[in-house]
Amino acid sequence: MSRIRFGIIGTGGIARHHAVALQALAADAELVACADIQLDRAREFAATFGIPRVYDSARAMLDAGNLDVICVCTPHPQHAEPLILAAERGIHGVVEKPFTTTVADADRVLEAAARYGTKISVISQRRWLPAAQRIRAAIDAGKLGSRIILGESYCEMWRGPEYYARDAWRGRWDTEGGGVLMNQSPHNIDFLLYYMGPAEEIFGYWANLNHPYVEIEDNAVAVIRFKSGGLGILKGTVSMNPPRRIHGVTLVGDNGATVSLDCWEFATGQNDIWTIPGDEPYLEQWRKQDREYGTGELPNLHAYQLRDVIEAIRTGREPAVTGEDGRRVVAIIQGVYESGRSGRPVRL
Ligand SMILES: NC(=O)c1ccc[n+]([C@@H]2O[C@H](COP(=O)([O-])OP(=O)(O)OC[C@H]3O[C@@H](n4cnc5c(N)ncnc54)[C@H](O)[C@@H]3O)[C@@H](O)[C@H]2O)c1
Repeated sequence: MSRIRFGIIGTGGIARHHAVALQALAADAELVACADIQLDRAREFAATFGIPRVYDSARAMLDAGNLDVICVCTPHPQHAEPLILAAERGIHGVVEKPFTTTVADADRVLEAAARYGTKISVISQRRWLPAAQRIRAAIDAGKLGSRIILGESYCEMWRGPEYYARDAWRGRWDTEGGGVLMNQSPHNIDFLLYYMGPAEEIFGYWANLNHPYVEIEDNAVAVIRFKSGGLGILKGTVSMNPPRRIHGVTLVGDNGATVSLDCWEFATGQNDIWTIPGDEPYLEQWRKQDREYGTGELPNLHAYQLRDVIEAIRTGREPAVTGEDGRRVVAIIQGVYESGRSGRPVRL
């Protein structure tokens, strides 16, 4: 079976995770091209990872063809255009979180993908943590009752001046599209929706409270009503110094059983709370496994998602994390922004 040909657009920080992941998946994938508007950066990246073709724009890379999938690793406002150009050329798209900065952009991408029959997968690599999968399996087995009635989603981080000074696009509405909700929180918002299903209405506040050197919000809180009837709380902060749980969720089932997924560090996650009756004998063993797991058999969590995308392309199924999943996260973020501006709940 021929290998799936990948190209990376945007060869900055996170692109390295995609390249390392693809190296580990070399039996099924090859990284054949990369592009960056900073050509020197793309050249250096290509030299590091042995990538044969280098371009100074997404369009040039896509026009040259001979690609099956692109990984879009540009700043968020530059996610939509390369995905649309790719779809028009029959090329699938993997895109970093957040999918896009507006629901309108997400819809433009999804329409193009539907029209040209290509797949979209939005990166949410922590779904592959065993502790995250354990919750999904417990819900599917009915161990949290027939629905989740209460969910809390949190991102508790610290970002200081050096973080925002790192790249010119950070910290501004026009180039980042938002702050703690748009940049740091998509992971835990995705967890909440993955477990609780689609949301119906949201009301929130956001503000910049202790980062005067940037424009975007550093704190946000919101309440959510889900289509299932369940209720949710969302909290995002980059004001906690030192940081606590960088991402997580706590979920209460209608039988009262409660579980949490807590990511205290970037590559690990554990279930700090787990009150499902009968599971007591496993808790110690799971905690030990989670501490020791790291990134498991693959070099990083991105590799699991890219492996899933490869299998989805080969078998014709949808990827585990779809474009629609990513759109729902963007709708939550946009909903909090709109609600904060208008002082009213927003229907999703
Ligand atoms: N999944 C995760 O855990 C995770 C972690 C970090 C970043 N990210 C996401 O990855 C994306 C990139 O973040 P980063 O930290 O790698 O940023 P970065 O600034 O390090 O890299 C972005 C690169 O994109 C290039 N670029 C900008 N516009 C471009 C365009 N139109 N065409 C081609 N190249 C372009 C820049 O020159 C730069 O080299 C963001 O959306 C961010 O949210 C995800």
